[in-house]
This record gives sequence, C-alpha cells and structure tokens, in this order.
Amino acid sequence: MIAPCPGWRLPRVFAHRCGGALAPENTLAGLRIAARLGLRAVEFDVMLSADASPWLLHDETLERTTNGVGRICETHDAELCVLDAGVRQHPAFVGEPLPTLASAALVCRQLGLLANVEIKPAAGFDTLTGEVVARAVRTLWAGAELPLLSSFSEAALAAARAAVPELPLGMLHERPPADWLVRLRQLAAVTLHCDADSLNGDLLGEARANGVAVLCYTVNDPELASVLYRRGVAAVFSDRIDCVAGD
Ligand code: G3P
Ligand code: MG
Repeated sequence: MIAPCPGWRLPRVFAHRCGGALAPENTLAGLRIAARLGLRAVEFDVMLSADASPWLLHDETLERTTNGVGRICETHDAELCVLDAGVRQHPAFVGEPLPTLASAALVCRQLGLLANVEIKPAAGFDTLTGEVVARAVRTLWAGAELPLLSSFSEAALAAARAAVPELPLGMLHERPPADWLVRLRQLAAVTLHCDADSLNGDLLGEARANGVAVLCYTVNDPELASVLYRRGVAAVFSDRIDCVAGD
C-alpha cells in the first residue's frame, strides 16, 4: 500500500459520521461513543459557514440534522454555535452542539482517534472548502497523527493538495470511473473510497497491483465486512460500530 509515512496503517473500521447509528451524526457525542466502544478511527463530514469556517455537517442545509434552517454556506458562525444537533435526530441527545472542526479535532486528539475528514463543499465552494479544511487540519492536528482527507470533489482535493502538500488524501467515488487510477495519481491520493456495492474483482485487482488501499461505505453487516476484508478491502465505514468488528 502507498503510505504517507513509514508505519502508516489503516484501522479496519471507521465510525461513519462520528458515531454511526449510536449518536446524532457528526457530533462530539458520536466521537465519544466510538472511542468508548474501542474504535480507533472515525469519519465525519465538513462544510463551510458563511464566514468560511469549517463545521461538521453532512447536508448543505441545516434542517434534517439540526434545529436550524437554511444553507450552512449562508449562515454565520454566531448562529451556528447555538444550534442543537441532537434534538431532531435522537431524543437522548437534546442539547448536543453542532461541532466546529476545531472542537472535533480536540476530542479526536484527546481520545486518540484517527480522523477521516470528508471535505463536503456546498455547490460552488469546492476550491475554497478544500483549501480552508486542509489548512485548518494542518493547524489543528499539529504534532499529532494527520487525518486522512477525502472528498467526492476532485476540485476540493486538488485545492487541499496545493494548500497543504503533506496531507494524505483519499478519493471518493460512489462508483469509481474506469480511469480512477489516473485520477487518483493526479491527486497523489493514497486511498480509494467507494460504495461497497460498486466493488468488483477488476477494481480490487487493479488497486492491489498498484498498492492503493480501498475503503468501502457503508458496511453495517459483520459478515459482509469479513467478506470484504478477505477480498482485499482495507477498511470499512460503518454505522453499526457496536457489531462490525475492527482490529
Ligand atoms: O466517506 C464515506 C461516506 O461518508 C461517504 O458518504 O454521504 O455518508 O458522506 P456520505
Ligand atoms: Mg461522509
């Protein structure tokens, strides 16, 4: 496997959106639950506010996962910092804050969690989001194991690569295109992340032959995870971190 530094090794399981299904998605509560269950790695999504600050959020809009309304890219930090990211998702987590990337970094570092920071640009914000997130990650994880940055947006990844060349990058595709390896090389990415349903023997063979680690989402069945590991998948993203085995 191509590694960003000697000894770099991926954990088998990344808790999807911080704590999988056991906590409101993309929250600090999820990070704490993942660590309590013995996970070594977590994935979460990062978008920019109207102030170009990085926050943990999956959708471009606030309604599904918080008590806010509207687009995050049009919402200022002062409004985001009072939102409740628990109340609409999980009755047991009322009052859970919407996390900044800075707060998530602190918790990951305190708990020893490797982070996969998924750059999620709002439409039209690919380059800015890639740059801002990469620079923030460099600062927030200074002196610690660097997160793996991934994105469905190649423009965001290219901007992240240009802004902070030393960060390990993962290229995300629901279904990798035929020329995925050329694209991955252009970005100097080290991992390919894709939907588990899109896997086939050709793709896994090409990845293996070229030393590229393949990570799959979203794998919630322990049997399926075992099959994928046997086929050569390096790691899975899971919502069922209570039953999908890691290492
Ligand atoms: O990074 C893997 C996975 O999180 C990609 O899908 O939509 O859950 O961010 P999504
Ligand atoms: Mg994600």
